[in-house]
Order: sequence, then C-alpha cells, then structure tokens
Amino acid sequence: MPAPALKTAPSFIVGNWKMNGQNGGLDEVRAMLDSLRKEATDARVAICPPATLIAPIAQLLEGGRIEVGAQDCHAQPCGAYTGDLCAEMLHAAGARLVILGHSERRDAHRETDADVAAKVEAALRAGLEPIVCVGESLDQRKAGEAVKVVEAQVNGSLPLTLKGRAFSVAYEPIWAIGTGLTPTLEEIEEMHAAIRATLRGRFGEDGEVPILYGGSVKPANAGAILHAPEVGGALVGGASLKAADFLPIVRAA
Ligand code: PGA
Repeated sequence: MPAPALKTAPSFIVGNWKMNGQNGGLDEVRAMLDSLRKEATDARVAICPPATLIAPIAQLLEGGRIEVGAQDCHAQPCGAYTGDLCAEMLHAAGARLVILGHSERRDAHRETDADVAAKVEAALRAGLEPIVCVGESLDQRKAGEAVKVVEAQVNGSLPLTLKGRAFSVAYEPIWAIGTGLTPTLEEIEEMHAAIRATLRGRFGEDGEVPILYGGSVKPANAGAILHAPEVGGALVGGASLKAADFLPIVRAA
C-alpha cells in the first residue's frame, strides 16, 4: 500500500446542523464568526444549516471566512416535486456546498448510490461543491464487510464527472453518528486509506480530495482524529450547534 499523502491543504471542518437551529442559530453563527476572526487557524470552515436558514446565514457570513452549505438537493433542476429544493435554488439562497448521501437520507429517504450520484451531478451543474457521505452499519462492521461496503459506496455515489472538480468525501460509520461511539484510530486510518486508494483508482487524484471523518466528533476527540493519516477534516453534527463546542474542534484542526 502506498504511503499516506502528506497533508498539504488545511483541514476542512463542516458543521451539519440537520433539522436543528431556529433563529437562535444566527447568534451561534455570529459568535463563531467573531471568534474565528481572532483565531490563527487556517482551517476551512463551513456550516450547513437547515434550508430555511441558508439565506440569512449566508448574508451574515458574506465576505467572511465561514462558508455555507445545504444538507441535500434534488437531482432535477425543476418540476413537480412537492417539498423538494433543487441545487440551483440552494445556490441562489447563498449555499456554495451541499452534503449528499448522508446515512440519515440513505435510510429515511431510501437514497441509493445511484440517487446520490445523480444529486452530485445536479450539485455540479448548479455550482455547489459536493460533500459525499459514505459509511457502514454496525452489522456490516461486525461481519467484517465495512471496507468492502464503503468502497462500493464510493464507486457508486461518485460519478466520473467529478474528476478535476472540487469535492470531499465524508466517512461516517452509521453506528458512530449521534451515539458518542467512535471507531478506533486504527479503524479510521484503515478506512481512510481504503477510500484514498479507491479515489486514486477512480479519479487518478493523489490526495487533493479531502476525506472527512464524521460520527461523534467532539472537542475531546477532535485533535487525535484530525491528525490521523488521510483525515482531511471532520463532518460534525451535534457538536456544531454551539460555538462553545464547535470552535475547539476548529482549533484542533
Ligand atoms: P454527530 O453527527 O457528530 O452528531 O455524530 C455527524 C453527522 O451525522 O454528520
């Protein structure tokens, strides 16, 4: 196996607010912004709030160093899809990134790898940078299938049109999301190395694509996880909702 690529880019820390954050969320973003202005960190930072907060947060953050993303988009640009939002609408609201294929959407909305790949195409069409999530279930890990499952998700969810475009992959073991459990550093390193090898084979890239880790990232474990080989950042759920939890993670990057 080739040696892990040296870290050349700053860590990428993304907050996934899920279906949380009403108007009080703006105060948290303001606090994050004020603190980050004073920090020496060169981490790349983004917040993905619920769609209703994208426009006000994008306005608040305009010209600043925190980027704004969405949590999903529809694959089509328009049409009779009640309740859905297309990538172009999210871009118009101020989003510049989009999380796709999160396990909560793969599960609750039955999104397949092919659905995720179609959404990636939609994001690229609209000028949104995709963050594509992959990750195994506890049963798959116990059965020794974790690496095989995640490699198949990477191959199935990342269309070849991504070659040369800006995107990231987020490895999020389903059993670690919101549970307080995390894989060992060895397990994280093994999976990130497997994802890197798959990306290399598929896109010929050599370390440019950040591979984020997600699943119960907290101030207490962020330093160790973020400095593991091939970990290019973190996708943070619960701990991204409050500046007091999110900022120490950014600082650990
Ligand atoms: P968590 O969620 O940090 O609350 O575990 C991570 C995610 O689902 O992106």
